[in-house]
Amino acid sequence: MPSAHIPVLTSEDVIAAMRALRTNQRVNYYAFYSSQLGGIVTDPALMVLPFDDHMVHRGHGVFDTASLVDGKIYDLEAHLDRFIASAGRAKLTLPGTRDEMRAIIVETTQVAGHSDGAIRYWLSSGPGSLELSPARGAKPGFFVMVFAGLAYPEHWYTTGLKVMTTTYPIKPSLYAITKTTNYLPNVLMQMEAKEQGLDNGVFIDNDGNVGESSNMNVAFVTQDGVLRHPTFDHILSGCTSQRLLALAPALIGRGLITGVEVCEIPVADARAAKEMLLIGSSIKVAPIVEWDHQKIGDGKPGPVARALLDLLEHDMHAGRDRLIEPGI
Ligand SMILES: Cc1ncc(COP(=O)(O)O)c(C=O)c1O
Repeated sequence: MPSAHIPVLTSEDVIAAMRALRTNQRVNYYAFYSSQLGGIVTDPALMVLPFDDHMVHRGHGVFDTASLVDGKIYDLEAHLDRFIASAGRAKLTLPGTRDEMRAIIVETTQVAGHSDGAIRYWLSSGPGSLELSPARGAKPGFFVMVFAGLAYPEHWYTTGLKVMTTTYPIKPSLYAITKTTNYLPNVLMQMEAKEQGLDNGVFIDNDGNVGESSNMNVAFVTQDGVLRHPTFDHILSGCTSQRLLALAPALIGRGLITGVEVCEIPVADARAAKEMLLIGSSIKVAPIVEWDHQKIGDGKPGPVARALLDLLEHDMHAGRDRLIEPGI
């Protein structure tokens, strides 16, 4: 970083600097739509926001992420439902109709030209001032990024993850159920776990019940075989969890579980589980084998984690009513 004679840059200098940034640090961003730019860019150097957008300097924005699997967008309607609900709670004005937003997401995915990855989209309250309230006359910004998605190590699925109870407080319910760009507690929780050589953290609520993980939900299989998930009133309503709760009864007939329950889960009950699971669009379903240095069940990935992953993967490829084909 220069300490003296800081140059005053031209627009060409700025673009060159943005390109250099991306050359030094490779990214897998395929396409980016910005309502502020009025189009789609594929050069990561141009995937930018004005600094005074309220989402940047005050965190006044919401987002959501859907998966792109084998050339198809999975369960976009569920993610759009949550996005629109988040926008309402954050008092953000939608940039257009749901159909218009869906069309932009689909077209950006088509331009990206990759058949696997993730599609993340944001709504910001727009630029125009550095004040606390949105700028007068600010136009909401809508952004769509198609990228490679988050990658997790294969051993998470084969040998399982180790987690810890985070020392960071859970978000108050309103903020936890709203998918805003304020992820500080989630970021700190994951960093804290990694600093301790663990894979992730778990939030516990103020009544001593299990909440969720950093960007994933958690669920359990009790000793008598019930698949248990925390209630969604104080954590994010995961689209993956909701879908799996609907699909899981198929495992009862196969003798893998005895029932499905969404209820408050006291930590002591949770620790006695046979299996503990991490669930989300990016991780799908992965087994947790250790929590606060104590084994879950026999300390090995269990059959329900595997069966739920198979159910989800099947749905991602064959769940016709949940797949949109952008025509890549
Ligand atoms: C805090 C939090 N909980 C849970 C989830 C899982 O949600 P989904 O299954 O929709 O990815 C996410 C991911 O978006 C998250 O950020």
